[in-house]
Amino acid sequence: MRTIQTISITTQKGGVGKTATALALAAGLAKQGYKTLLIDSDPQCNATFASGIDPAGDHGTLYDLYERACSASDVLLDTEAGYKLIPGSLRLTTADLKYSGTLNREYILRKALKSIDKLFDYAVIDTPPQIGLLVENALVITDKLIIPATADAFSIQGLLQYSELLGELKNAFEDNLHFEVAGILLTRYSDRTNISRTLSDSLYEIAEHLHTKVFTTRIREAVAVRESSLARQNIFTSHPTAAVTKDYDNFINEFLEGGS
Ligand SMILES: Nc1ncnc2c1ncn2[C@@H]1O[C@H](COP(=O)(O)OP(=O)(O)OP(=O)(O)O)[C@@H](O)[C@H]1O
Ligand SMILES: [Mg+2]
Repeated sequence: MRTIQTISITTQKGGVGKTATALALAAGLAKQGYKTLLIDSDPQCNATFASGIDPAGDHGTLYDLYERACSASDVLLDTEAGYKLIPGSLRLTTADLKYSGTLNREYILRKALKSIDKLFDYAVIDTPPQIGLLVENALVITDKLIIPATADAFSIQGLLQYSELLGELKNAFEDNLHFEVAGILLTRYSDRTNISRTLSDSLYEIAEHLHTKVFTTRIREAVAVRESSLARQNIFTSHPTAAVTKDYDNFINEFLEGGS
C-alpha cells in the first residue's frame, strides 16, 4: 500500500520563493517518476497560474473542498509538468472569517484528501504568506516542512518569528501536528550576497532551535525562475540547462537523500 508523504512549503514571509520552490519540487518529483500532487493553498493562485491553469477557469478548486461541495478526485487537474494540481481559489482569501465558527475547521483538508491519498507518492502544498486557517490545515497533514528564506536581515528576522510561531502552534495543537522540519532553504541567492557572520550565526541558531538543518544546496537568484512562471512552464522544461534548474535538481536530491 502506498503511503503519501506531504511536504508543505511555508513561512509567513512573503516573496522568498515559496511558490517557485513548490512548483520546482512538484515538477522535479514528477520528473523522477513519483506520482505527485500539487495543492495550491494560496488564494493568490500563483502556483495554479504558473502550472498553466487559469485560476478563474471553469473547474473545481480547493474552495470546493473547503465547502465540502465535491470530492477531491473531482478537482484534480492534469498539468504539463506531470503532476496533478488542486487549483487555488481567490475565494479562500476570507477563509479565516468564513470558517471561524466551523467545528474542526483545521481538519477540513485532511478529511477532504483522505479519498485520494493512496493515489500519490507525494503531495506538495504551496501556502500563503500569512499564518491562518489555510496554513493550519496544511500543517495538520504535513510530514515534512520546507522553509525558504533569503539571505537578508529581514528574512532572518522573519524566520525567527516563524520558528517561535511554529512552537506556539505545536503547543496549541497538542499531539495533532506531526511534521518534521526538513530544512531551511536559502533562495534567491547570489554569490555576491555577503552573509555577515551575525546573520549566518542567527540562521544556524534558528535551524538548531527547529531541530533542523540549512540545506547545503542554495537556490541562486536567476531570471529563469521568473521567466518560467511567466511562460507558465516548469523550469525543467523552460530552462533545462540553466544553473538555477541544476540548483533545484540538487535540492530535490538532497531532500530525498535526507530520508524523504
Ligand atoms: N531563485 C530566484 N531567482 C529569481 N527570481 C526568483 C527566484 N525565486 C523566486 N523568484 C521570483 O521572486 C518573486 C517571489 O517568488 P515567489 O512567488 O516564489 O515567492 P513566495 O514566497 O511564494 O511569495 P508569496 O509570499 O507572495 O506567495 C517571483 O516573482 C518569483 O518569480
Ligand atoms: Mg507564493
